[in-house]
Amino acid sequence: MKKSIVLSFLIPCFLFFSLLIICNPANSQDAAKAPATLPDSINIIVTNSCTPCHTSQGGLMSKSKLNFTEWANYSPEKQKEKAEKMYSEINKGAMPPKAAREKRPESIPTKDQLEIIKKWSESFTADKK
Ligand code: HEC
Repeated sequence: MKKSIVLSFLIPCFLFFSLLIICNPANSQDAAKAPATLPDSINIIVTNSCTPCHTSQGGLMSKSKLNFTEWANYSPEKQKEKAEKMYSEINKGAMPPKAAREKRPESIPTKDQLEIIKKWSESFTADKK
């Protein structure tokens, strides 16, 4: 009898704390990290310049267009298309957006980094349909 009272108190407590742990939103360090499915060289650039906007934690507009958290689930065609877009957006100075560039000039990819992204974007072999 006594045991069941203790249990009926402990179990909800346990569930409550498990929920807290499960639902705890990723801390900002995790949120800013792009997933490892990108090559390291690209991951470094993206993590410095494109996240957290383009991850599941980012803005609705940015993540609906390009979400690095979902990158591994993109089809090869979509990866190719997005990689090419990444290059062209950075190349024409449209990404990171103007406000982000002004706020964090160090987030603008360097010429070398742009070249790395260009080569990578050209390395996709999936045919665009
Ligand atoms: C401050 C937030 C922010 C940062 C940082 C940022 N973006 Fe964006 N990006 C957006 C938003 C918002 C959109 C959607 C609106 C638009 O297209 O202008 C977007 C759209 C895009 C698109 C268009 C996708 C499509 O299919 O049309 C590409 C590609 C892109 N971003 C690449 C990048 C890359 C690469 C970086 C890093 C070098 C980057 N972005 C950094 C906010 C951001």
